[in-house]
Amino acid sequence: MASVYAVGVGPGDPELLTRKAERILRSVDVILAPVANPSEVSVALSTIREFIDESRQEIIVHQFPMTSDRSRLVTAWQEAAALIAAHAERGRSVAFITIGDPLFYSTFIYLLRILREQWPLIPIEIVPGISSINAAAAQAAIPLVEGDEKMVVIPATAGIEQIQAALETYETVVLLKVKPLFPVIMDLLRKTGKEQTTVFVERVGSPRQRVLTEFSQIAAHSPDYLSLMIIK
Ligand SMILES: C[S@@+](CC[C@H](N)C(=O)[O-])C[C@H]1O[C@@H](n2cnc3c(N)ncnc32)[C@H](O)[C@@H]1O
Repeated sequence: MASVYAVGVGPGDPELLTRKAERILRSVDVILAPVANPSEVSVALSTIREFIDESRQEIIVHQFPMTSDRSRLVTAWQEAAALIAAHAERGRSVAFITIGDPLFYSTFIYLLRILREQWPLIPIEIVPGISSINAAAAQAAIPLVEGDEKMVVIPATAGIEQIQAALETYETVVLLKVKPLFPVIMDLLRKTGKEQTTVFVERVGSPRQRVLTEFSQIAAHSPDYLSLMIIK
């Protein structure tokens, strides 16, 4: 039985991979990369291309659809877990790669539950990665929290009421998955007087990175999925 690794590859900059992640990625037999749709390039895979050897290692790109249809999601998780388990049982080590950290809003969390339940003998090692939040704060040079301050992370998909309540309670609010609710979030930030204390970061760590601190520029921007906001 070979090991399964969940490897956090960081936000997209190959230099933000840990040495452990690099060592494991160079050594495994199989690398499984997630994509939301088949035409898309896996960000995680692009990040680690320089560390892998396709003549020796098998690369599998697996689709995890971005949908709220739970039965489609469960099918994709189950298929991926079965694929990983089949390789591990044949003695082939597998790395599931994930952007940022594998235990922070990552598909790997669902795979971990299935693997533990259905293939309890497979050894699993999790290699943490630099999350998009830490990378974004670093690029914007904005402290996340200091002293007694408290911070909350909210996927904006949780709804505008949750965001509003968080802005009243915490010194720092980090919003992930901002794209679908972007105009509504902008209205809320105007109403709550957060124009001067909001930072928007898109595709941090990649050549397409954008760090916006001017509220007018943020409001005029049309964000993509890999975008977050830090609001003080
Ligand atoms: C499913 S979560 C994945 C989080 C990831 N596991 C991490 O540790 O950063 C996806 C959300 O994370 C944020 N995100 C991930 N990578 C990013 C990047 N390179 N730049 C900006 N935001 C990013 C976006 O808000 C995106 O909608």
